[in-house]
Amino acid sequence: MKTEHQRTALITGANKGIGKEVARQLAARGFAVFIGARDMAKGRAASEELCQQGYESTFIQLDVTDPVSIKNACGTFSQKADHLDVLINNAGVLEDHGEDILKLNPEMLDRTFKANVSGPIMVIQDFLPFLQKSVIGGRIINVSSGAGSLASMDTYAPAYSISKTALNAVTRQFAGALKNEKIAVNCVDPGWVRTDMGGPHASRPVEQGAETIVWLATDASQVETGKFWHDKREVEW
Ligand SMILES: NC(=O)c1ccc[n+]([C@@H]2O[C@H](COP(=O)([O-])OP(=O)(O)OC[C@H]3O[C@@H](n4cnc5c(N)ncnc54)[C@H](OP(=O)(O)O)[C@@H]3O)[C@@H](O)[C@H]2O)c1
Repeated sequence: MKTEHQRTALITGANKGIGKEVARQLAARGFAVFIGARDMAKGRAASEELCQQGYESTFIQLDVTDPVSIKNACGTFSQKADHLDVLINNAGVLEDHGEDILKLNPEMLDRTFKANVSGPIMVIQDFLPFLQKSVIGGRIINVSSGAGSLASMDTYAPAYSISKTALNAVTRQFAGALKNEKIAVNCVDPGWVRTDMGGPHASRPVEQGAETIVWLATDASQVETGKFWHDKREVEW
C-alpha cells in the first residue's frame, strides 16, 4: 500500500515505445508507476525492468478497447493504491497504410477510434474516482499527434489523423467537465519519434518524445488545462 504522499502514475500502452519511456522517466522522479499493457508477458517484462533498476513499478493488464479489462484494471489498481495523481492515455494504433479518405475502410476507422478515442474516454471515466483522491491535484495527459492538428491537416493517414483530432476534442470536453475539480486535462504532440509506430527514420529518440508528457505530468502549472502542447509550448488545434 502506498503512503498518502506517494505520487502515482498510470500509463497505458507502457510496454514499449513512448509509454515505456514516460514510465521510466516518472519512476526516476519518484513516482510509483503502473504499467498498463494489454499483453501480460510484455507488460510484466517492462514493469520488471523498472523494478530491477530500483524503481517502484506495478504491471496492470489493460486493453483500452475492452470495458471489462478497464474495470478489472481499476480493481487491480485499488489493491495497490488509493489515489492516482497522473493518468497518461498513451496507448494508440496507426493502421492506415497509404489509404486515402476516398477509399477509407470503415472497419479500420472503427478499430482506430476504439483504441484512440473511446478507449481514453472509458479509461478516464473509470479511473476518475482515483484521480479525485489526488491531494496534489490530478493530471490527465492524452498523447495526441501533430497529425490531429486541423491547422496543418491535409491527406496523411485519415483514420489515425481524424482519431487524434477527436482525442483533442475529448481533451477539451474533459477539461471543461473537470475544471472545478482541480484535475488538469491536456494533450500532447510528441513529434515524430523512433518507435515501432514512428519507424526507424523518425527524427526524435523516445527520450525527447517523452519529455513534454513528463513535464505536463510534473513541472507544468496545474492551472494549465484544455490545451494542446508540443515541446512544452501551446500549439494550434
Ligand atoms: N511515434 C511517433 O512518431 C508518434 C507521433 C505522434 C504521436 N504518437 C502517439 O504516441 C503514442 C505512443 O506511440 P508509440 O510511438 O510509442 O507507438 P508504439 O511503440 O507502437 O506503442 C504503442 C503502444 O500502445 C499499445 N496499445 C495499442 N493498442 C492498445 C490497446 N487496445 N490497449 C492497450 N494498449 C494498446 C501497444 O501495445 P502492444 O505492444 O500490445 O501493441 C503499445 O504499447 C500513441 O498514442 C501514438 O499515436 C506517436
